[in-house]
Amino acid sequence: MDQRPSSVPIYQTATFSSADAGELGDVASDPRSGYAYSRISNPTSSALGAAYAELADGEAGIALASGMGAIHAALASQLKAGDRVVAPLAVYGSTRTQLIDTFARFGVQVDFADLTDEAAAAEAIAAAPTRVVYAETIANPTTVVTDHAAVARLAHERGATYIVDNTFASPYVCQPLALGADLVVESGTKFLSGHSDVIAGVVAGRADLIRGIEKVQIDTGATIGPFDAFLVLRGIMTLAVRVERHARTAAALGAWLERQDGVQRVLYPGLPTHPQHEVATRQFRPGVAGGMLAVELAGGRSAGWAVIDALTLTDLTASLGSVHTMVVHPPSTSQRQMTEAELAEAGITPGLLRVSVGLEDLEDLQDDFAAALEIARGAERPAVGV
Ligand SMILES: Cc1ncc(COP(=O)(O)O)c(C=O)c1O
Repeated sequence: MDQRPSSVPIYQTATFSSADAGELGDVASDPRSGYAYSRISNPTSSALGAAYAELADGEAGIALASGMGAIHAALASQLKAGDRVVAPLAVYGSTRTQLIDTFARFGVQVDFADLTDEAAAAEAIAAAPTRVVYAETIANPTTVVTDHAAVARLAHERGATYIVDNTFASPYVCQPLALGADLVVESGTKFLSGHSDVIAGVVAGRADLIRGIEKVQIDTGATIGPFDAFLVLRGIMTLAVRVERHARTAAALGAWLERQDGVQRVLYPGLPTHPQHEVATRQFRPGVAGGMLAVELAGGRSAGWAVIDALTLTDLTASLGSVHTMVVHPPSTSQRQMTEAELAEAGITPGLLRVSVGLEDLEDLQDDFAAALEIARGAERPAVGV
């Protein structure tokens, strides 16, 4: 049969048969020479790794079981006991926990700093020998934007590897490798797949660095299943049109929310009011600042919960990057591991809502938020302390 399939086939198999014992030995020891066992490599999963490398403009790429699996493999490929990581104060809660609970337990020193302040970043990186500098393009949940060119320069001056989580941006908005990052990691669960139906992770970068990650993936088994890889590949085909629409609606909704009673502040990198708007303008695709908003409500935690409960169009769930709008209260969800003091240090106020803007009509979202804000203003809920 010479006709090629239009989609990447799902190789739903654990094992691949070789012609003879010698060939099996070759493919089992080097995943690039062929396929033996799907924990090591699988054609559908390899196709996703290659597709992400192309999207991120990396020499090579790899797909893993989840975003956290990808972050772990990227970090573990670079770190050993006694090494030091510098990460931002504003960083996804589970990444912070992975650094503090898992890596620190194996003897890695983890220090957090404000990487948006160049002097503070330089001081933190120079304070002791640093093996890895880690940052997010757009931080979860505060939307703090990292100046990759500046942080990459500081990291490289000290001989550190610069690893970037690009999940909130997606490769359509930002290309961290072109700005100096050594490795770019993404949760494939979010914008890449785009429909909230799969858990996945990807990494791209130089081929020798990706080989190190492949080794960790094989050793730890954070392998993506072929059907899950297929779903992300299918999502990637519509990434550009989805993110264009997410961004257009987010920019308009953010500008409108800024003018509503009960809204203290809206943080969207595409708005001139965002503290790193200039960095975003320099680093992002022109006019496309992603689909994520942070909204600070004047009424604090109780107002945040009241708005979430009153919204009718949004999914009450803890993810992002989907066709459906999702609104979460980070202090109770994605950053739940942090104390009040740590939340304050990371810029997460009690009334902060994270909005992942979906593909709904702008007018419908405005109507829903207008009604929810009105209910929240009238709500007299007792403050819930956590
Ligand atoms: C910025 C960021 N990075 C990584 C992850 C982890 O991704 P996953 O849930 O696919 O493990 C998330 C999940 O929300 C995230 O928001």
